[in-house]
Amino acid sequence: MNENIVWQNHSVDREFRAAIKHQRPCLLWFTGLSGSGKSTIAGIIEQRLAARGSHTYLLDGDNVRHGLCRDLGFTAAERVENIRRIGEVSRLMADAGLVVLTAFISPFRSDRELVRALLPAGEFIEVLVDAPLEECERRDPKGLYRKARAGQIPHFTGIDSPYETPTAPALHLRTDLLPAEACADQVIAHLARHGFIGHDLECAHV
Ligand code: ADX
Repeated sequence: MNENIVWQNHSVDREFRAAIKHQRPCLLWFTGLSGSGKSTIAGIIEQRLAARGSHTYLLDGDNVRHGLCRDLGFTAAERVENIRRIGEVSRLMADAGLVVLTAFISPFRSDRELVRALLPAGEFIEVLVDAPLEECERRDPKGLYRKARAGQIPHFTGIDSPYETPTAPALHLRTDLLPAEACADQVIAHLARHGFIGHDLECAHV
């Protein structure tokens, strides 16, 4: 970092920005294999939160790789950079007072921990979206596992690139056992239990 660049403190700070939105910001970090259901579940949760007036933003791997991270591929170094950028953007968005949801494979534990360290304690909520590799391969929503097995996509997570399972995620969702709506319920209940949202939202859809 350049020593001539000095951090500027502005009078409209993160507390103020959150207060005028009447909400407590957080970063819901969904991690898991391709096809595990991260985007689907994050989308359901964002819809429910937004319907009740929460200010949210969903960052999705496939979309971000069309813009901010369009120059990055899937080598280990490029994935590290991908998650570093997403972490910084998420931090800014939480700083702006938003409830941020991210859906990235984010296969490396150390990268997820770096993002956790960017946010105030307790604001990073790690959610493991879990289905066995065989199940993700069976779903193969984008036909990518088939291509990876055929040797057409190098460094594919779960095939020839590792996925490091979180050791102590705040939530562990088994999408092979529960439908996406029920998984979303668990996340909403967690947010209510920890005071990120009111309890009214918890049963909003029933
Ligand atoms: S991450 O590993 O850097 O976190 P990210 O979530 O942004 O990955 O992107 C994953 C998405 O890119 C997958 O859902 C899949 O659609 C697509 N993809 C393309 N190539 C690969 C690959 N080699 N490994 C995993 N996903 C890939």
